[in-house]
Amino acid sequence: MGKLIGIFLLALALCHLSHSEQDWWENGNFYQIYPRSFKDSDGDGVGDLNGVNEKLEYVKDIGMKGVWLSPIFQSPMADFGYDISNYTKVQPEYGTNEDLLALTERAHSLGLHLILDFVPNHTSDEHEWFQRSVANDSYYRDFYIWHDGVINSTTGERQPPSNWISQFRYSAWEWNEQRQQYYLHQFGVKQPDLNYRNPNVVEEMNNVLRFWLARGIDGFRIDAVPFLFEVEIDPQTGTYPDEPLSSDISTCPDPDDWCHLNHTFTNSLPEDIEIIYQWRELVDQWTSEHNTDTKVLLTEAYTSFENLMHMYGDGLRNGSHVPFNFEMLAGLNNKSSASDYDYYVHHWLSNMPKGVYANWVLGNHDNPRLASRFGAQRADLMNIFLQTLPGIAVTYNGEEYGMENGYVSWEDTVDPQGCNADPTTYLQYSRDSERTPFLWDNTTNAGFSTANHTWLPIGQSYADNNVAAQLAAENSHLKIFKQLTQLRQSEAAFIDGSYVSVVVKNVLVYIRAAETGDKYIVVLNIGDENVSLNLGTLFDDLSAKLEVVVSSLHSDIPNGQIVNANSFEAKAYNGYVLRLTN
Ligand code: NOJ
Ligand code: MG
Repeated sequence: MGKLIGIFLLALALCHLSHSEQDWWENGNFYQIYPRSFKDSDGDGVGDLNGVNEKLEYVKDIGMKGVWLSPIFQSPMADFGYDISNYTKVQPEYGTNEDLLALTERAHSLGLHLILDFVPNHTSDEHEWFQRSVANDSYYRDFYIWHDGVINSTTGERQPPSNWISQFRYSAWEWNEQRQQYYLHQFGVKQPDLNYRNPNVVEEMNNVLRFWLARGIDGFRIDAVPFLFEVEIDPQTGTYPDEPLSSDISTCPDPDDWCHLNHTFTNSLPEDIEIIYQWRELVDQWTSEHNTDTKVLLTEAYTSFENLMHMYGDGLRNGSHVPFNFEMLAGLNNKSSASDYDYYVHHWLSNMPKGVYANWVLGNHDNPRLASRFGAQRADLMNIFLQTLPGIAVTYNGEEYGMENGYVSWEDTVDPQGCNADPTTYLQYSRDSERTPFLWDNTTNAGFSTANHTWLPIGQSYADNNVAAQLAAENSHLKIFKQLTQLRQSEAAFIDGSYVSVVVKNVLVYIRAAETGDKYIVVLNIGDENVSLNLGTLFDDLSAKLEVVVSSLHSDIPNGQIVNANSFEAKAYNGYVLRLTN
């Protein structure tokens, strides 16, 4: 058996709960739908709400409890819905408000909970608030961050008030002719940042939350939390302070790139967390006043670990139910070792505050797909990992069947982050590849749409590999995924069992054990070499025989096969879920 290179034990003392005693979101399985690419019901080449509605049974069938939709509100689509021009109206190409209500009802009738994307940091420049702000209407004048700019002492020319850079490259300040001032946009030029130091802005946004809560929505995924507040203007200079260069500009040499600066004045301010607490209070209050199912908050924040822990609450006040855990998403790649995986799990589990749930996010519409990031041969392993960890799992649509990044040519590129680059570099920036349409079956456009032209090309071959084919096959990524979500729902070990891990060579092994005594061992061979394991020496009280309940597609072990704990062969890139037999 391989040399033991690291043992780290962590027994989580969780009180025993059956699934029925848990609230709907606790330990939940969340699914992110990118509606534009999920299913087009009306043949215009763009996915829509009725398309999602048609496919809700699929979502239920793969074991989900909660669904969050990327934004579906009225928008000029400069950032595909993350630029909203009306927060309470559905974008016509996605359907109507009635369609959304019908979708909510249908979700509820299937036992699913529906979560909307709340984009509070910025509106579209076509939002009425911005237009009125531009026009200097008194109530709206300070809804956004405006500044005259500064005069350059050498050239005598007017220039932006600070060196701040947009996430989508170039200056974060844009000159507005009509108002004769610069406005701040931390994302695209068409996404002006709201001014959260104006209480009217906060109240308007609270009303947006209340509007959707009143329509039965079950919670919100909150966009771009670290960008909500910026430092206040410096009274001495009358302007905003420049941000320092990033401590490691060698990894980000291009001065137009966001990563070139250290965003001390525009990112992850304490006020960002404070407002999450306020929004939590708002949804909690709603829940208790209206006696509804718990309304949840999921927060999107690429920020420090300390901030993420803080996002949960401060001991006195609660914050986000699900502060998205992007540690692994940001920290793991196809070179990572089993110890790296192990580190991230323990890091979260051993630092999160008492009384909250861990959560795990491996992919979303802003990052390359799992199969492309970790290699297609690890597609099942990543899903086994995600679905067998303690806490909440978040799956980006398509990952359940091992979907890969789609190819999108420069000509077909539409993501502003890609378009702001050039034909030679756009692939580094563009997020279109992880947003290509869902592959339902082998008909035209993979069953996504009957249109001649889809908003993004169908990104990969789908003749033999699609949802229908995987459902029909004897075994497939999708079937494996369904077995995993089933285990999560039915087995106490996965509902609230303890977690104890060991790293052997490049293999991460962990036990999930329920108080009732039921135990499962998960073996993840992250590496590219087969490893023979003596599992009996790794854990106490292990039975000599183990049953393989699920494993990667290419493991060559049928489910139900009994294996010897003392000589278990873990194939390179493969994952296994083993049950202790008595
Ligand atoms: C994060 C979203 O996930 C991303 O897609 C979007 O471009 C930015 N926030 C701006 O809203
Ligand atoms: Mg459509």
